[in-house]
Parts: sequence; structure tokens; C-alpha cells
Amino acid sequence: MEILELKKDFPLDLLLDADPNQEYVEDYLERGQVFGLFDQETPAHLIGVYVLLKTRPGTMELVNLAVREAFRGQGYGRMLTQDALTRAKEAGMRTLEVGTANSSLGPLALYLKCGFRMTHLDLDFFRRHYPDPIFENGVECRDMVRLMQDL
Ligand SMILES: CC(C)(COP(=O)(O)OP(=O)(O)OC[C@H]1O[C@@H](n2cnc3c(N)ncnc32)[C@H](O)[C@@H]1OP(=O)(O)O)[C@@H](O)C(=O)NCCC(=O)NCCS
Repeated sequence: MEILELKKDFPLDLLLDADPNQEYVEDYLERGQVFGLFDQETPAHLIGVYVLLKTRPGTMELVNLAVREAFRGQGYGRMLTQDALTRAKEAGMRTLEVGTANSSLGPLALYLKCGFRMTHLDLDFFRRHYPDPIFENGVECRDMVRLMQDL
């Protein structure tokens, strides 16, 4: 297993699993660094992905974390999150932030287990930014939960 920076061949299908808005995903790809988890170094062997964005002095944000469906529940999401924390720290950042939906119970559990703390809610973020209502786990995806971790 290795996590490598991707400069091309971005896995759009997988990135859209984490955020269905293609415009936002393309913006992240342009502004951020993309990292992929491979079991062999070919695009066909990409298991998961995330993007690191520099947002403010000393602060990066982890966005677009996704693991291919067949590989979920095996620790790869945690591995990618830990990698993002390590890379942000090595880049001299003091804080890593992440945001997820009030309805994304899996990602919320993952981020909390990786040491992130909830700071606030961006109320109605998903109603304001996504044209159609989204439901997950029987809950409307409505507010963005903001989390951060000191590095
Ligand atoms: C969220 C996602 C990246 C997690 O990846 P994963 O490889 O399945 O996660 P892991 O196996 O590393 O799980 C890490 C921890 O999170 C918890 N977790 C993950 N998914 C969970 C779920 N659906 N419900 C409850 N807990 C969950 C696990 O309990 C695990 O804890 P443990 O290590 O103590 O067992 C993956 O489900 C995914 O790609 N989802 C679709 C895209 C997405 O929603 N991205 C997040 C955008 S904010």
C-alpha cells in the first residue's frame, strides 16, 4: 500500500462519491493537492483519494475523502485521514480542518475517532449550495459540521 500525490488521471467518479457537485470537485482539484492510495502503482489499483487545500496561513482543509465502495470498512479511510494529518503537519501547518454533513454519520465517526473536534455548524449549507434535497441515513443533509485538529 502506498499513498502518492496524483498530478493527472484524477478519479472523478470516486471524488464525486464524497461531493456530488462536480463544479466544487473541479475547483478543489485546481486549488489543492490530490493524494491516492494504491495497492499497486497503476490507476486501476486506486483504492481511495483525498484532497488537501491550503485555506489560510497555517491552515489546510481535508476535502473529498473517498474510498472505493468495495474497500470500505477496512481501515483505508482512517489511513488516508492520518496521512492528511501527517502531510499537513510536515507542510508546517498548525491546523487541519474538515467539514461533513449532519447526516454523514460514517464520516463523522471517522473524523472524531481520528482526533478532530467539532467547532461549529454552517447552518443550511447544503440547502443553500445544492439544488436538490439530499437524504442519508434517513436524515436530511442540511447543515455542515465543521471540525478541526491542532497539529
Ligand atoms: C467515509 C469513508 C471515506 C470511510 O472510509 P472507510 O475506509 O470505510 O473507513 P475506515 O474503515 O477507515 O473506518 C474508520 C473508522 O470510521 C468508522 N466508520 C466508517 N464508516 C462508518 C459508518 N458508516 N458508520 C459508523 N462508523 C463508521 C469506523 O467505525 C472506523 O472506526 P474503527 O477504526 O474504530 O473501526 C467511506 O465510507 C467513503 O468513501 N464514503 C463515501 C464518500 C464520503 O462520504 N466521504 C466523506 C465526505 S465528508
